[in-house]
Amino acid sequence: MSKETITKIEIEKAATSKINDVDFNNLSFGSIFSDHMFVCDYKNGSWQTPKIIPYQKLMLDPSARVFHYGQAVFEGMKAYKDDEDGIWLFRPDENFLRINKSSKRLAIPEFPEEYFFDGLNTLLKLDNKWIKKGFGNSLYIRPFVIATEAGVSASPSSEYKFMIICSPAQSYYGGEVRVKIADHYSRAASGGFGFAKAAGNYAGQFYPTNIAKEEGFQQVIWTDANTHEYLEEAGTMNVFFRIGDKLVTCPISDRILDGVTRKSVITMAKDLNIEVEVRPIKVAEVLEANKNGTLKEIFGSGTAAVINPIAGFGYKGDKWELPKIENSYAKKIKEAIMDIQYNKAEDKFGWRIKV
Ligand code: COI
Repeated sequence: MSKETITKIEIEKAATSKINDVDFNNLSFGSIFSDHMFVCDYKNGSWQTPKIIPYQKLMLDPSARVFHYGQAVFEGMKAYKDDEDGIWLFRPDENFLRINKSSKRLAIPEFPEEYFFDGLNTLLKLDNKWIKKGFGNSLYIRPFVIATEAGVSASPSSEYKFMIICSPAQSYYGGEVRVKIADHYSRAASGGFGFAKAAGNYAGQFYPTNIAKEEGFQQVIWTDANTHEYLEEAGTMNVFFRIGDKLVTCPISDRILDGVTRKSVITMAKDLNIEVEVRPIKVAEVLEANKNGTLKEIFGSGTAAVINPIAGFGYKGDKWELPKIENSYAKKIKEAIMDIQYNKAEDKFGWRIKV
């Protein structure tokens, strides 16, 4: 975004702003959207001239492929405002690369880099009042692509819409989070598309997560589909376990999302002299560590959630609470990452990009 704007973007500004109707101190995640949106259509084999237009409803044919075959991928990013009104993104190149990786797996044409960054840059400048100052405040950015060709033939669409919408955000999870370790349902299988940020990966989790909610949990930690013996990810977050003084997380694979916050946590933890092990982690190991008192923390990481401490977990009908901890790794790492995101600390990793 330090890059020069080279794309011609057609801009239609909203006649009025909705911003004065919004209570920024009382936001429910992802429910209110800023005044403008970015749209770029794919047809006749190429991406057309991108546009920024007032946020509005779409008109699609009921037979559009996205409704029937789920050809849809998305990203989650955030823009932050510092005390001097500077606007920052956190590792946006990672999101750009990932949406195209997701698209490729779902047979969606990849999106040009300059359209993505120029579109995002222009949109954020236009809607910059929607980014509020203050630690924890951000503008959640949702780029996504959907298949729009009419017709229910089960084949990849020849037409798509790439869009970016933005929603002012505070924290994703209010209150304490408890997770259920999956022992029956699975999120993804080897050779599948669990690594992609594909809409269907989320839809498939809703039913088992609803069951977990009825049992008092907010999220499911998914285990490997073959044996259910290994811990993988939590669906909206990657997961970390502090056993003794080591932080353990499973390696990414074709079943697991390559989280931007996950990889930042690993780098930051090492920088804070915390020992990190990226290796397969068995449910049995975590249960044993819990029993012998060496399981000190579990936390999730993700763009929406940032780092979310997990207060308790359940497995096969049993439930445990984790002890409250002084010197929490989750807290320490979260603060260090947020200091970079909000331009409060030196960014020695080059993660922060100015809009
Ligand atoms: C994100 O962290 O951006 C996510 O994609 C989680 C989302 C499903 C709210």
